Amino acid sequence: SSLEMYVDRLPQMPKIHGYSMEHGRPTPAHLAIGMYQKKWKFHRDLPATTVFVFGTSAESATFPGPTIEALQGVPLWVTWENHLPQHHILPWDPTVPVAIPRHGGVPAVVHLHGGVHPPQSDGSAFAWFTSGFRERGPKWTTPTYAYPNVQSPGVLWYHDHALGLTRANLLAGLLGAYVIRNPAMEAPLGLPCGDEFDRVLVLADRSFYADGSLYMNFTGDNPDIHPQWQPEYFGDAITVNGKAWPFLCVARRRYRFRVINTSNARYFNLSLTNGLPFHVVGSDTSYLPRPVTATHILIGVSETFDFVIDFSDQSVPPEVELVNTAPYPYPDGDAPGRLSGKVMKFVVEPAKTRDYSRVPARLLEYVKVAEEEAVRKRYIVLYEYDDAATGNPTHLYINGKRLEDPATETPRAGTTEVWEVINLTPDNHPLHLHLATFQAVRVRALVGLDEFQDCMVRLNDAARCNVSGHAVGDAVAVPEHERTWKNVVKMAPGYVTTIVVKFLMVDTGEAYPFDATAEPGYVYHCHILDHEDNAMIRPLKLIR
Ligand code: C2O
Ligand code: CU
Repeated sequence: SSLEMYVDRLPQMPKIHGYSMEHGRPTPAHLAIGMYQKKWKFHRDLPATTVFVFGTSAESATFPGPTIEALQGVPLWVTWENHLPQHHILPWDPTVPVAIPRHGGVPAVVHLHGGVHPPQSDGSAFAWFTSGFRERGPKWTTPTYAYPNVQSPGVLWYHDHALGLTRANLLAGLLGAYVIRNPAMEAPLGLPCGDEFDRVLVLADRSFYADGSLYMNFTGDNPDIHPQWQPEYFGDAITVNGKAWPFLCVARRRYRFRVINTSNARYFNLSLTNGLPFHVVGSDTSYLPRPVTATHILIGVSETFDFVIDFSDQSVPPEVELVNTAPYPYPDGDAPGRLSGKVMKFVVEPAKTRDYSRVPARLLEYVKVAEEEAVRKRYIVLYEYDDAATGNPTHLYINGKRLEDPATETPRAGTTEVWEVINLTPDNHPLHLHLATFQAVRVRALVGLDEFQDCMVRLNDAARCNVSGHAVGDAVAVPEHERTWKNVVKMAPGYVTTIVVKFLMVDTGEAYPFDATAEPGYVYHCHILDHEDNAMIRPLKLIR
């Protein structure tokens, strides 16, 4: 495309408060948020694009949707309404496990990514519904979802999770940010705050036809098997808050940015021109114990990072670009080109007011990661299956099993487990668990990969295939700025990543104010949406 960069101003999405104020005290709220088809301008010179987006009305709906502002400990109820039309605006594939309504319409269901909430409110892939709740998937339970907001403050996001349609529904725009705050805990940190200086940046790569419509491939790599499905969608335009390569005027002072990578498959390795550093303060829904200064941040699909950029120094040039160097697919794909190598630009202007913010020496501490508390060890193996004729992937599974197969990961609510995640594919996979929080404690290379792989294909049993005998290669350090309780961890190809998983609130030690063992349970999956849809996803069923 020949779109000029940095001609559109970075938008701020509308904010919706997930609580109301009564007599100066926050009280629970009930929101109705709809999914609408409408037109959205992604760039000054691009005709308006038809999208599916969230909003409290069709007029106010945006790409991405409104940012929901919640308070820790103040529950929020949301009725998610589907106002989508009879037909999808993007191609979808009836041969992957997919929701197919009998009477047309676009199946959708909403998951709050990073949310600690009851299973009935989790947005099960089988709990989809069409316009007006006319048709409902087999695990549909309720039109109104409960979000207790019991976990620590941080940035979450909400997005569609419909069976086999997630990649198309998100590509169309069904996503938005959700911030949990705890003013009493966070204000003393002194980080940049307020609408102007504490901003959410929602990244999404997209390709467009000349008429402005979203491009998504109509043909699969193995069309005889899957007419449409492809292993990864990559767009060459990088959008931030719904504009392609926007710019933001900033004053010479500190800003806090909460970056969410909502792309289908693209990783970003973010850096700033002139080597200006990021002061990373958090990731997913957790703070780091201490800020970490980094010149590069590798952000997998669905991962979030929370950092401060200090533009105050007089040596900061008047224009600073946010650029991307992550190959696609990550890590062995092509280097990003002229287009996808750029993200946005900051135009630095003199400060009008004094900056009282700071990056404090200490942030927030949670329960320490303790491998020895684990009551159980599990092996989680990520596979890709290739077509014998073309060599192209046909589908991807976890532990050789389908989503529809009975749950095998059935942790006891309240316990800690160790999962050894073995990645036998050539790609990095962003592993996401619903409800739980986890962190990587060890990453070791697999040696004798071919032999191990052959054994796994034969026996599908990591222990019997002597995984520990193969996990003897070099150890890789977990980056300092990823050492906190996360909901997505990047799984390097050819490595075993050891994660410690907590199936309970990590910071309060309190039990959930709901039954986490109820039906329909949760899921865990790869968050490359094209992998998730076909079908690198498994049930996660908590037991008592
Ligand atoms: Cu962000 Cu299961 O999803
Ligand atoms: Cu994947």
